[in-house]
Amino acid sequence: MPTVTFLPGYRKVTVPGGTTILDAARAAGLSMNVVCGGQGKCGKCLVFIKEGTATFDRDKYRRFFSDDEIARGACLACQATVVGDVLVNVPAESLIQEQKILVEVPGQEGIPFNPAVRKYVVRLEPPSLDDTTPDLTRVLEGIEKQGGPPPTSIYAPLDVLCFLPLVLRRNEWNATATVALAPVGYRLSSVDGGDTSERLYGAAVDLGTTTVVAYLWSLTDGRILATASNYNRQISCGEDILSRVNFSRKSGLSQLQQLATESINEALTTAADTAGIDREEIFEVMVAGNTVMTHLFLGIDPAYMITEPYIPVVRRMLSTGAGQIGIAAHRNAEVYTFPAVSNFIGGDIIADILATGMTDREEATLMVDIGTNFEAVLGNSDWMLSCAGAAGPALEGGEVLFGMRANPGAIERVAIDAETLTPTCSTINGVRPRGICGSGLIDLLAELLRTCVIDRTGRINLDISHPRVRKGQYYPEYVVAWKKETSVGKDIVMTENDIRNLIMSKAAIHGACMTLLDAAGLEPGDIGRVCFAGAFGNYLNKENAITVGLIPEMPLDRVENIGNGAITGANIALINRKRRKELDAIARRITYIELNAEPSFMDRYTSSCFLPHTDFTLFPHVQ
Ligand code: FES
Repeated sequence: MPTVTFLPGYRKVTVPGGTTILDAARAAGLSMNVVCGGQGKCGKCLVFIKEGTATFDRDKYRRFFSDDEIARGACLACQATVVGDVLVNVPAESLIQEQKILVEVPGQEGIPFNPAVRKYVVRLEPPSLDDTTPDLTRVLEGIEKQGGPPPTSIYAPLDVLCFLPLVLRRNEWNATATVALAPVGYRLSSVDGGDTSERLYGAAVDLGTTTVVAYLWSLTDGRILATASNYNRQISCGEDILSRVNFSRKSGLSQLQQLATESINEALTTAADTAGIDREEIFEVMVAGNTVMTHLFLGIDPAYMITEPYIPVVRRMLSTGAGQIGIAAHRNAEVYTFPAVSNFIGGDIIADILATGMTDREEATLMVDIGTNFEAVLGNSDWMLSCAGAAGPALEGGEVLFGMRANPGAIERVAIDAETLTPTCSTINGVRPRGICGSGLIDLLAELLRTCVIDRTGRINLDISHPRVRKGQYYPEYVVAWKKETSVGKDIVMTENDIRNLIMSKAAIHGACMTLLDAAGLEPGDIGRVCFAGAFGNYLNKENAITVGLIPEMPLDRVENIGNGAITGANIALINRKRRKELDAIARRITYIELNAEPSFMDRYTSSCFLPHTDFTLFPHVQ
């Protein structure tokens, strides 16, 4: 079998002939950028063949490479297959970089504190011949005396009973009982010797497709003790949801379950170490993830969600023992997963809804969460409508020549001087630019329109005589950063093709918002608030989002960025038992509108494929 050696680092792996270089890289433990899921559409998995041979149709993918790169043996790892031994150079930008993960969200300490797990210190009378009450009854009565629930409502698992006699007698009948609200009644999670009432912790987790964020809380006083984040280790099995489901179908389900658990455990360990606590004293974990992520995390086969008639195994909120799925917490801790509305409106969106507070308001709120896919929810305390669709990867950096995720070196803000057409850019971490992330792309689109470099169809005006506005190798383009200013050794440009892809992405989102409004019988002016959730929304310039027609026009003070709504929602459900109880009812109340089955959506989408729209009356203040 051929050996593939990856530079730098000389990682070697032996694979059968015909294996893609991408799969060989995965086998070698490299996490490559696979924005399009290995379909040959994004050009982000660039590698160079230094020695040996690989089969690759260079003409077909020519548009992704410069002449210099071709001369150096450039190919796409996802499309090149191994024939014999091969030496492959993987440039740093083709590997997944440290991402700007949205961890800190303001306002978390203000969540009303009403946890579902409590500790009771019980000082018990030892048994005697005159008092032969069993140990468990003695403890349960002690709990009730301390203001806890009645003994008949508390279930005691076997392993607590097994340790109970020893714990009580070794500690002279002084103990601390941990009691958690269960789906039915209460559960005695633990009985420990002495007074441990100060040590009671819970964790909220946002299990994203790319990243994992965890908040560690004190459940005795409602303080945040630490936060942590890391990558979802499932990335090595595919970057997007579809490739993960396909991986699980090839008997990779248990591997994906384990990788999700390891990713959460890594975040919990970091948070626990930062706070100086023992993970064994975490008694509840609340996990918000999309529907596929939740299935994979619990080891439930998601295969039937991607084939007709597209059925998930479960939509309701589930609670599972931490020990049962390998979560690094107390062995009797309960791990809760958020309910879902559909395959596309998952637990992360229910968490977003909780974060917006829209279920408590009379005014209509429009919540939009944008990633490779987008989800939109419109509603108030009485009703909610939702829809989802593909934004295309353009807003996450795919299908845009120099698009990239929000990693160091990504241009995240752009302003263009109307006189000189010179851009002023700021990059993540202030380093030399490597590409442009979603918020930078929306800025660019708005600024190019404002300075008349592009027209309302997105066409670049080549009549402008300026070195930054040029014909380009394949498409007309605007130079955002000159080669000497970048860290990628070439000019960073925005091409007309990039602009077309961005316009299609924004049109899908605007068309979906208008479809929801129409279904509710509302006009854009009836919306009380628009809430952007997720990392993309958090860094978005609101004015520019309206200028390009990403969302309906409205006063800027009605547009809010709620940041990582999934972690905020998970925090709320962790520390407020009343809110947690409402989750299933919220999910059931949401009506899902299938855009593909909605005849008006296509018309709305087509009308939105202009900047900002074909109907100027919808954007009266955009010049
Ligand atoms: Fe290879 Fe997108 S992952 S082109």
